[in-house]
Amino acid sequence: MKARITTIEREADGINSYFLASLDGQEMPPFEPGAHVDVELRPGLTRSYSLVNDPKERGYYEIAVHHAINSRGGSRHIHEMWNVGEVVEISAPKNNFPMNEDAAHTVLIAGGIGVTPMLPMIARLEELGRSWELHYVAGTPERAAYVDRLSAYPNARVVFDGIEGGVRLDLAKLCASAPGDAHLYCCGPGGMLDDFVALNKGRPADNVHIEYFSAETEVATDGGYSLELTRSGKTIQVAKGETMLDALLTAGVDIGFACSEGVCGTCQVAVLEGVPDHRDHFLTDEEKAANRSVMVCCSGSCSPRLVLDI
Ligand code: FES
Repeated sequence: MKARITTIEREADGINSYFLASLDGQEMPPFEPGAHVDVELRPGLTRSYSLVNDPKERGYYEIAVHHAINSRGGSRHIHEMWNVGEVVEISAPKNNFPMNEDAAHTVLIAGGIGVTPMLPMIARLEELGRSWELHYVAGTPERAAYVDRLSAYPNARVVFDGIEGGVRLDLAKLCASAPGDAHLYCCGPGGMLDDFVALNKGRPADNVHIEYFSAETEVATDGGYSLELTRSGKTIQVAKGETMLDALLTAGVDIGFACSEGVCGTCQVAVLEGVPDHRDHFLTDEEKAANRSVMVCCSGSCSPRLVLDI
């Protein structure tokens, strides 16, 4: 769908928020807390951004974009090229980070720009009158977005670990002290998420929720394997320097993708034979071990051929 940029606000150093509204003044499609939209920046460059606003606010979508220093084009493009009044192309909301609304207690843990999906969650939890707490760590006050908005909630704790006398988030203590039936959510850098997952191994998997906001694993481009596509009958070689997605697109295979970083799940394809070299952050460890699907944007192959159900 097309949407118009109505407002751009500076939220913190290197972080802007962008408000997107429909062209005809109609309400935006509904979304659930934790949802994101894919933004098409130009052909071949799409990025996913969490929706930040209260889902009850139907007149606009708000996204926040951190201008990453080593941006591969996504955040830099938005910060440099987007202006109020312009029309951009976005997907309908998708949700890979849904919230359990019936939890007895909800623990939200965010690092940096990972705070964005937590804001609509908080709005919904407040609306439902649920018990919740937020722990948000940022490097410095200047680099922390939405602190003002969060200051309305006594159960939202913000700490800064990059300043003199700063406080480190004690993830181990936090996870250990959460009630057994709590649902825990974490969005932040890869290391934080890895620690979070390891610390919560003892909890039911359904109670532990994570969302990567940027891929930290290297995309597989070693090539040297073939793809057999059962539906189209094609066989494609993946050359050195190419991703599986590159090879599929070059061969004219119509395949959906968005983040290109193994985060969003859009490019998931069923595997019928072979062992993928999983590089994504979308599949669970169990799903990766089962080798029944692969994220073609970033993963490679451990076997000389992969048979795919496309
Ligand atoms: S395009 Fe997002 S996981 Fe592959």
